[in-house]
Amino acid sequence: MSANQFPAGFLWGGAVAAHQLEGGWQADGKGISVADVMTAGAYGVPREITKGVLPGKNYPNHEAIDFYSHYKEDVKLFAEMGFKCFRTSIAWTRIFPNGDDANPNEAGLKFYDDLFDECLKYGIEPVITLAHFEMPYHLVEAYGGFANRKCIDFFVKFAVTCFKRYKDKVKYWMTFNEIDNQSSFNNDFLMCTNSGLLLDNELDNEAQMFQAAHYELVASALAVKEGKKINPDFMIGTMINYTPVYPATSNPEDVLLAQRVDQRRNWFSDVQVWGYYPAGIEAYITKKGFRPDITAEDRIVLSEGTVDYVGFSYYQSMSVSSQKVSVDQLTDPHEAQVENPNLKASDWGWPIDPVGLRYSLNLLTDRYHLPLFIVENGLGAVDEVQADGSIHDPYRIDYLRAHIQEVKKAVLEDGVDLMGYTPWGCIDLVSAGTGQMSKRYGFIYVDKDDEGNGTLARSRKDSFYWYQKVIKTNGADLA
Ligand code: BG6
Repeated sequence: MSANQFPAGFLWGGAVAAHQLEGGWQADGKGISVADVMTAGAYGVPREITKGVLPGKNYPNHEAIDFYSHYKEDVKLFAEMGFKCFRTSIAWTRIFPNGDDANPNEAGLKFYDDLFDECLKYGIEPVITLAHFEMPYHLVEAYGGFANRKCIDFFVKFAVTCFKRYKDKVKYWMTFNEIDNQSSFNNDFLMCTNSGLLLDNELDNEAQMFQAAHYELVASALAVKEGKKINPDFMIGTMINYTPVYPATSNPEDVLLAQRVDQRRNWFSDVQVWGYYPAGIEAYITKKGFRPDITAEDRIVLSEGTVDYVGFSYYQSMSVSSQKVSVDQLTDPHEAQVENPNLKASDWGWPIDPVGLRYSLNLLTDRYHLPLFIVENGLGAVDEVQADGSIHDPYRIDYLRAHIQEVKKAVLEDGVDLMGYTPWGCIDLVSAGTGQMSKRYGFIYVDKDDEGNGTLARSRKDSFYWYQKVIKTNGADLA
């Protein structure tokens, strides 16, 4: 290994989620997921969550980029880039169409057998998220999602079914995607995508969040415990949306507020890594008078089902100011957010902060003492296809280069133990937040627009060749 390269075995790859690329929303017995009842939005226009699938609405995830039929062609392109791993999720509704079915759907299980075989054929390790915003819609309607303790059992049954079936094909797992998104407990959309929760206006949103999140944490811990019995070599991680929090100024009130916001955003992974609730969150729950159903048995499960690594997405940092809200009045951590004048933003208003990624890697290492895995990072941008079919995306290369440079410093100089790096949306797919196709992250362009028109043809962007070189040189050549 040269001093300029990442460690041998570093998992370079790309990341996607089933509902954002597979399509085939009713193929081979698949049931309806929460993603199937979300309409297309736009920047500043929220996606609507409809009561079931309604005629005349545009549901972009129904077809997505039809990876369901194109996966062989797509995996071949990933192999051409040199991927060592491919992160995707297993659509819960392909395996248990309603979520509470007695038996799994064999056709759904077979699809993932075929997909994983296709990856392994090229030496690409599957990295699998079990629940990536894809809860069966039936569990939402009939049970209230993770507001209901019964969903723990449904999730664990799904997890165990997958662990048993794929135990010789998949080593790397994550339970819930961005479990900490729920810290935005006033955001209906995030609460539904993450926990299948349709907020009840009669109840306190934050109290509902603490309850649902607790049940998810128990479900996650039970899945880890069961997974380890099925294959002790499994590596099962948490997956959080890590957003480092900066004080807007060096005013101690801002500094204290930044710490508090961090605690409110990051306690989810504390529980998953440490096996218990951090004292600050226990104290806050008591102070607020919330009485979540947390049993003594749950606490044992949490302590026994801790994770092996910390998977996280990194897109941005956030700055907070006590001018907006004081430490003692803070409830929703996002209400304290202010613009950071030091950073530029993407066309969708996401601050761009490569140094924040190095900072995050160091913070997470100090906090958790576990291997880390950057399982999402990237720039959503509009791409233009030239007359000759080429796609020049220097903005994406610049973004990724700047971030990888910081990752390199963290690994080679700061001693961070990093398992791999999988940029988000390695092939263009449907944006989770807006439902748009035009918010593109990929190295591979897919011919489809926001109205659903296009041939679905795949083509290589300039960034495809750049990333291929990065992988080939194991990160030595980022030019
Ligand atoms: C992460 C999610 O939050 O961000 C992905 O895990 C999502 O599902 C990604 O697609 C980028 O967000 P967006 O809204 O640009 O698709």
